[in-house]
Amino acid sequence: ARRWGYVKKGIPENEARIVFAEGNFWGRTLAAISSSTDPSSYHQFGPYMPGFDIVPYNDLAALEQAFQDSNIAAFMVEPIQGEAGVVVPDEGYLKGVRALCDQYRVLFIADEIQTGLCRTGKMLACDHEHVKPDILILGKALSGGTMPVSAVLANDEVMMNIHPGEHGSTYGGNPLACAVAMEALQVLKDEHMADNAATLGVWFRTALQQLDSPLIASVRGKGLLNAVVINHPNKDAAWEICLQLKAHGLLAKPTHGDKIRFAPPLCITQEQLEKCVSIIASVLEAFPKA
Ligand SMILES: Cc1ncc(COP(=O)(O)O)c(C=O)c1O
Repeated sequence: ARRWGYVKKGIPENEARIVFAEGNFWGRTLAAISSSTDPSSYHQFGPYMPGFDIVPYNDLAALEQAFQDSNIAAFMVEPIQGEAGVVVPDEGYLKGVRALCDQYRVLFIADEIQTGLCRTGKMLACDHEHVKPDILILGKALSGGTMPVSAVLANDEVMMNIHPGEHGSTYGGNPLACAVAMEALQVLKDEHMADNAATLGVWFRTALQQLDSPLIASVRGKGLLNAVVINHPNKDAAWEICLQLKAHGLLAKPTHGDKIRFAPPLCITQEQLEKCVSIIASVLEAFPKA
């Protein structure tokens, strides 16, 4: 994105800036933690990389304000913030991001490492709003979780600013991982995993709401990327509930104190999901309320 900024947008060398949303998570590299607003990611790993600006998530007015700086090369954003606790933006946010990026000539980078590849009920979460990012980042499900492979996709106007030999990594383009990724993409289509995620996601969120548990403050998500916010005075309650879930055979991950993320395999069946909900129900029922 920076190279594009210098070559195509005419940003003065070394002046390019990238905008991120508050609560972002894109890994543990120095660049990623330098844009993080979460002390558990960045604390005591400095000094940090410069050139990053932060705006609130789901706030188009703040984004437009940030874009007044003509040195902005890109806005990188998760269509649903995963690590932050499955934060789903308002409908229209991604469309608004696309429009602002077009208006101010800023690259729209969608980090779909968590949301992509059928997880939210469409091939990409951006598909819900029919928007196409300039750069798309994929990982995790790209190999069905079986091989370390990720991808950065862009059209030539962006990608061809990096010339052959200017970028690489030891395992980049690994043939076995690429073959598995191609097959995994085919399986997602052949087995209609997007439809499965969409249908079962609605069912799952409704079933959790119907538990009517005083421990559940809210249920949110899209497709099979969901979270519950736990209502409990003990700040470790979500963690302890996850330990109880594990003891009963269900793996879920707490995130940011009071949230539990549920991201079951995309091939899960309704019957299996019913079993999950009954485990969640019995664990919540038995959990001390205060
Ligand atoms: C949304 C998102 N982006 C980026 C990453 C980082 O990917 P990697 O661990 O391959 O660096 C993650 C990892 O969990 C993620 O959830």
